[in-house]
Amino acid sequence: MSTQIKNWDVSFFSEAAKLLRQSMPGYPLPDFLFREKLTGDPEFQPSLVFTAFNDEILTGFIMGVVRKRDSGPAGFIKMIGVRPGYERKGIGTLLLNALEGEIRKRGLKSIRVFESYPNYLIPGIDTKFQGAITFFESCGYQKINETSNMEVFLPAGGFPVEDDLKGLASKRIYFRRAVREDKSKLLYWLNVRFPEWKGEVSETFKNVPISLFLAHKNESIAGFAGYEANNRGTGWFGPMGTDMTFRGLSIGRVLLRLCLNSLQKDGYTKAVIPWVGPVKFYEEAAGARIDKHFWRYEKNFY
Ligand SMILES: CC(C)(COP(=O)(O)OP(=O)(O)OC[C@H]1O[C@@H](n2cnc3c(N)ncnc32)[C@H](O)[C@@H]1OP(=O)(O)O)[C@@H](O)C(=O)NCCC(=O)NCCS
Repeated sequence: MSTQIKNWDVSFFSEAAKLLRQSMPGYPLPDFLFREKLTGDPEFQPSLVFTAFNDEILTGFIMGVVRKRDSGPAGFIKMIGVRPGYERKGIGTLLLNALEGEIRKRGLKSIRVFESYPNYLIPGIDTKFQGAITFFESCGYQKINETSNMEVFLPAGGFPVEDDLKGLASKRIYFRRAVREDKSKLLYWLNVRFPEWKGEVSETFKNVPISLFLAHKNESIAGFAGYEANNRGTGWFGPMGTDMTFRGLSIGRVLLRLCLNSLQKDGYTKAVIPWVGPVKFYEEAAGARIDKHFWRYEKNFY
């Protein structure tokens, strides 16, 4: 079977979106979401997107991206899929080789699978896709970590917040939706406390209304939580963080619930809490349950 690897061309959009939907059951990926992941990525580089063709049929797709990280620029595989019926014919390997070649040409030392925050579809390989795990391991990738996405059902009347708001007001801690003027101070604050979330938080300021809530005491920011910063249109929560000096006061619970209540008012019946750390916190604060589990993979070139 002769497979041709071609560079990305916008005329492949519909077929590539369809192919990814078919190859990843459980991930609906409507066209608008595929567009957000592809050309909507602020660091979209067409030279890091490849397609595979067999007899004029689009049989494979891969997208990579380069992100700045603390250790320097790093490569990421953002999406990959092979058309059902064409697996185990070497197409995935050819696509991966093409992308790795481009990443190495740029002098990057490593490449990770998915998890390309601030714009990413999934934080690792979904363990339901066992074939993908074997595929990446056979291509020299090593498991570095695990994580999960949680799912939370949004009650019709919203989660209660009044008692918490009253209790926290007595400590002079107040909550409000962010306004445009908050952005520079917040980014400065994040730079010290949660630098990895600056990108997603910036995205929340592009939404109308701004999809971010703040907790504050006098002039100090005590915490923040956002939603629809990534994977817009899917009920995506996060990121969120409470300043160390304000932890343990229920500020996180209130921020989480304010965001979930906004998603509910926007018409969502459930929300995704992605790439979670504190499972117990989300379970206790909103009854969230682990929905999907991911293994995270990396390959070092040197
Ligand atoms: C994962 C995927 C991209 C691999 O593409 P592919 O073209 O089938 O991969 P290749 O033919 O290049 O496979 C290379 C090697 O990987 C391993 N491999 C790939 N798919 C496998 C599977 N389903 N089961 C076991 N091993 C597999 C094998 O070792 C294979 O070599 P072999 O066939 O000579 O034994 C493809 O199966 C796919 O699109 N899956 C659905 C999408 C997906 O899982 N995405 C990840 C979501 S988390």
